[in-house]
Amino acid sequence: LPAPSCIMVIFGAAGDLAKRKLFPALYYLSLANQLPEKFAILGVSREDFSSETYRELMNRESRAHLDGDYSQDVWNRLVKCCHYLQGDFRDPAAYQALAKKLCELDDQCKTPGNYLFYMATPPTFFGDIAGHIAGAGLAAEQDGHWRRLVIEKPFGRDLQSARVLNRRLLEVFDERQLYRIDHYLGKETVQNFLTFRFANGVIEPIWNRRYIDHVQITVAEPLGVENRASYYEGAGALRDMIPNHLLAVLSIIAMEPPISFDADEIRNEQAKVLRAIQPLTPEEVLTHTVRGQYDTGVMPDGKRVPAYRQEPGVAPDSETETFVALSLMIDSWRWAGVPFYLRTGKRLPGRFTEVMIQYRHAPNAAFKRSVLKDRQVEPNVMVLRIQPSEGISLGINAKVPGQALRLSPVEMDFSYDDYFGHEPSTGYETLIYDCMQGDPTLFKRADIIETSWQLMEPILDVWSALPPRDFPNYAAGEWGPSAADELLQREGRSWRVCS
Ligand code: BG6
Repeated sequence: LPAPSCIMVIFGAAGDLAKRKLFPALYYLSLANQLPEKFAILGVSREDFSSETYRELMNRESRAHLDGDYSQDVWNRLVKCCHYLQGDFRDPAAYQALAKKLCELDDQCKTPGNYLFYMATPPTFFGDIAGHIAGAGLAAEQDGHWRRLVIEKPFGRDLQSARVLNRRLLEVFDERQLYRIDHYLGKETVQNFLTFRFANGVIEPIWNRRYIDHVQITVAEPLGVENRASYYEGAGALRDMIPNHLLAVLSIIAMEPPISFDADEIRNEQAKVLRAIQPLTPEEVLTHTVRGQYDTGVMPDGKRVPAYRQEPGVAPDSETETFVALSLMIDSWRWAGVPFYLRTGKRLPGRFTEVMIQYRHAPNAAFKRSVLKDRQVEPNVMVLRIQPSEGISLGINAKVPGQALRLSPVEMDFSYDDYFGHEPSTGYETLIYDCMQGDPTLFKRADIIETSWQLMEPILDVWSALPPRDFPNYAAGEWGPSAADELLQREGRSWRVCS
């Protein structure tokens, strides 16, 4: 069904997020006939564009990020909805102009006064933008119109700033108007974890410490910092990815079954499991976390790429990490003693976003002597592939045909494509649609964000107190620094080789 009619105001309309994710997501929504029948997009940013030059910019720079079958008609229809307003996010006058422009667009496009404000700006603007929207009288919901605010990540840069931001937002908006977005929760494959775990009788009974040895969550990207140095230099891989995307995935993998799929029931369970993660002590930060920064190197496609410190806008002696690996323990009956290993980085050998569940070894006394010469049977491994080649595979041991008893690992594989076809998506479609519908289930509550930052605090504190790193410490195209391998080797384990 098409979403309710509204205007989507994108602050930071000419930025990377708008080009790479938001416009492609709006295109896919339009392709699926899920955009509102009466709809307008109003881009706001500092650049001096007319609506026409803004449309041309999106034609030039956003279309390249579309995947799958392309329909020129659908794209044209989307671009036709685009309007532009130049404005300085910190200038109250810009919001008076915004209020006027929204009235005009409501008249012109027959939209009923529902506004979705999307903050696709650097996080330093979030508080100001929210304050000024309210200052211009645009936050109040009257006469049945809704006003919603989507807040991009990072939500703060530590616990303290997250709390301050939250307070500022709640001074001018109601909690039910706030949509704190984490696009990983919008990914089909991540949502499917809930179905996979709770709609299959064979999965949940063995989803615990009795059967599972450890869990690995990998988000590997071949991309470098692109043109985002001004944000990334102040963030780094930890802030950019762990408290949001990786902990979001972890919370769904590790949570207890909710009593229903209502927004708050799911979010209560996510919050509970995050609260059960043991914060690292300062000593553990030294032994359980690894950070890295990429050097120049050759990517798998044979292209040599520059080091992080040579990227435009990056300081030549930057201490910002582009890779992080860490291990966490969850102090609960289900997970006690099961390490969760997390790793993410830029300029890694490929795009692999996946969760690996490694089961315990089978009790294999019968096989040991004659077949395996005292080695152990390979443990079963389940891989939940979030992207690309979305799907789930289970590695099992099989007998190699023949008289001799020999074992070989084989794979049972489910691929989304085979069953449902290829549906290109960015992860933002469902979330934008849900926000237009007023469904907060897949958005983050303030307590979840704060608990996530709380877990990062000891790491950020210890890292900032340590002397400068020996960066760069991994070549572009490698799987991060060798210390990341040692992190697991010390515990007799190793990272999955993604392919
Ligand atoms: C963003 C990060 O939130 O997620 C980026 O800021 C990262 O640094 C991106 O590249 C990854 O998202 P996806 O959907 O491409 O895996």
